Amino acid sequence: MARFLTIDDLDFSGKTVILRPDFNVPIDPNTGEIVDDSRIREHAETIKELSTKGARIVILAHQGRPGERDYLESLRKHAERLSGILGFKVDYVDDLVGESALEAISKLKPGGVLLLKNVRSHPDEGREAPPEEHARSEIVSKLSRVADIFVLDGFSVAHRSHASVVGFAYTLPSCAGRVMERELKALDRVLEKPEKPFVCILGGAKSEKSTSMIDYFLGKGLADYILTGGLIGQLLLLASGLDLGSVNVKVLEKRGFLKFRNEAVEILRRYNGMVKTPVDVAVDMNGRRIELSVKDLPSEYPIMDIGRRTIDMYKQIISNARSILVSGPLGVYEDERFIEGTSEIYRAAALSGAYCIGGGGDTVAALEKLGLRDRFSYVSLAGGAFIEYISGSRLPGVEALEIAYRRVKHV
Ligand code: 3PG
Repeated sequence: MARFLTIDDLDFSGKTVILRPDFNVPIDPNTGEIVDDSRIREHAETIKELSTKGARIVILAHQGRPGERDYLESLRKHAERLSGILGFKVDYVDDLVGESALEAISKLKPGGVLLLKNVRSHPDEGREAPPEEHARSEIVSKLSRVADIFVLDGFSVAHRSHASVVGFAYTLPSCAGRVMERELKALDRVLEKPEKPFVCILGGAKSEKSTSMIDYFLGKGLADYILTGGLIGQLLLLASGLDLGSVNVKVLEKRGFLKFRNEAVEILRRYNGMVKTPVDVAVDMNGRRIELSVKDLPSEYPIMDIGRRTIDMYKQIISNARSILVSGPLGVYEDERFIEGTSEIYRAAALSGAYCIGGGGDTVAALEKLGLRDRFSYVSLAGGAFIEYISGSRLPGVEALEIAYRRVKHV
């Protein structure tokens, strides 16, 4: 369990606080408008509380990565959206560490909120570097001089060892904001001592961490069953010796799964019976959903979903679970013909009565599409950070909070 200070542990009255939320939100590429402000809404809770406590709040945030389509150097639209959510004006300055920024900070009144320019506009930021090095960066050293406390609220950026995430914990008293606190508590509930049986549902199309995640959950004795679908399900079928057909193997190769083939073979050998793979699949046969037993593979048609018998088998296991973690859809949920596996399995998880958590961009999008988001016990705001954390990786942002905790508690 990560140990860190929270907002309850520090006195914020009249203090200048550097707050690092994650305001990285979907942007309409044509208009530059914010499409979904869920993250801003969640962080607004922390901001409101700090404001009520009389803090002067300076927000450091990012939108996209320089050079990519969703990158915005100015965060003025984010400030406007935040003003609307908070119900009072949030100041914005198109500067980060220059005179205008420092002047705007000095003019903040207790309870006031100021958003600075995209922190990734500064070369110090988008670079992975050790926290001690980031503590000496221009961003951290200049802003630390005019601030009293650092609050890290963006769990979803905590996997980045960037200046605004890890640097301030070395220079200022630092604590977790409410979003960070909530995310860590919810995830630690299943990662520390999950109520058993604990079932993980793994799917999706992202290869990174998929085999190491399985190894972590089963190797540590956390999970009882891993139910697989999506491309990780297909990789495991391949590792079991099945020929999926060249069209499907090509997809696995393109999405970076094939390089984990040996790990997949080892997982099947080591955790025999605990890792469940599809017994049937749905393929796209010239626009029609056709179900095939895996015994009838290879197929010249692309595998798009798990089949009916697999759904029933997985639902049976889910019905006995006390804890469930969901990462990734079971099939191509964006296409109505192939949403069935994801729909039925997510619904079974949501209605099982187990403590049920999910996270990652596609999982959240699928939950939204199926109207199930509110039926899960907890849905993480994070994408990459969620995957890293549940795979057992130490997140630099969380480690920075732990360092700040140890400094105060002398442990
Ligand atoms: C996210 O959206 O996952 C975070 O904001 C991190 O963004 P990044 O992948 O560009 O670092």
